[in-house]
Amino acid sequence: MRIGFVGAGAVVEHHLAVLAGQSGVEIAAVCDVDEARAQAVAVRTGARPYADWAEMLDREHLGALFVCVPPTLHAPVAVAALERGLPTYLEKPLARILADGEAIAAAWRASGTVCAVGYQWRSLDVLDELRAALDGAVPGMLISRSMGPTEGARRDLGHAGDGQPGSWFTDPRTSGGILFELGSHDVDLQLALAGPATSVQAAAGSGLLALAGRSSDLDDAVAILMRFAGGGIGAVHIAWSDAGRPQAY
Ligand SMILES: NC(=O)c1ccc[n+]([C@@H]2O[C@H](COP(=O)([O-])OP(=O)(O)OC[C@H]3O[C@@H](n4cnc5c(N)ncnc54)[C@H](O)[C@@H]3O)[C@@H](O)[C@H]2O)c1
Repeated sequence: MRIGFVGAGAVVEHHLAVLAGQSGVEIAAVCDVDEARAQAVAVRTGARPYADWAEMLDREHLGALFVCVPPTLHAPVAVAALERGLPTYLEKPLARILADGEAIAAAWRASGTVCAVGYQWRSLDVLDELRAALDGAVPGMLISRSMGPTEGARRDLGHAGDGQPGSWFTDPRTSGGILFELGSHDVDLQLALAGPATSVQAAAGSGLLALAGRSSDLDDAVAILMRFAGGGIGAVHIAWSDAGRPQAY
């Protein structure tokens, strides 16, 4: 299968490592507005590099597309791919705003193809054991902890001391902060186990963990409480701490 990538940043390394172990896979094309990044992946994989994803979709006959750009760009790329009937792996979060998420869902429904969103925890083998142990019972209480750094290779807060800016993650209007970047994994996992939520409460704090001593629009602590339609409740605790501190996921 000929696979294309849009975005050639940190998360792509995880996907390339998994795909390297699959037979019948060709990394055929890679696009990044940072041409050095596209080139770096192209050199390693033999893919053709592009700087414009629409041109890549027009020119390449792909069997599947990985969309690995920041969240505000998910909708235009994913909708274009799905309108071409291209099976799509779309990184999480689905979208940054509701309208984008709805546009992606509508394009997927009309496409007749697959759109897998990168919430990989709902595919863990252990969930089968958990469901078997529940034996049809509704979970009364789910508790998720997500405590640790964000994607290390992305250097979200920039390079200490050399004045390099942080990544797209540091603008909450682009990223949704740790609620979207970390916590949405936990929310998705709880919904996969307990079904839809009927109400949600949340609170956030800033400046005492990864952001200690920094002025930022982001939060570094978030707590979410959900009530599920089945009657149970779910708590999600997210703490964004520096690399090197103890982690819990
Ligand atoms: N599933 C997971 O566990 C997981 C882990 C990390 C990141 N992610 C998600 O993956 C996505 C990408 O994150 P990342 O960590 O790789 O970020 P990144 O900043 O390392 O990479 C994003 C890349 O997109 C490129 N880009 C930006 N605009 C573009 C455009 N118009 N056309 C082509 N390329 C463009 C950037 O130049 C950059 O190289 C995000 O949605 C993030 O939430 C998921």
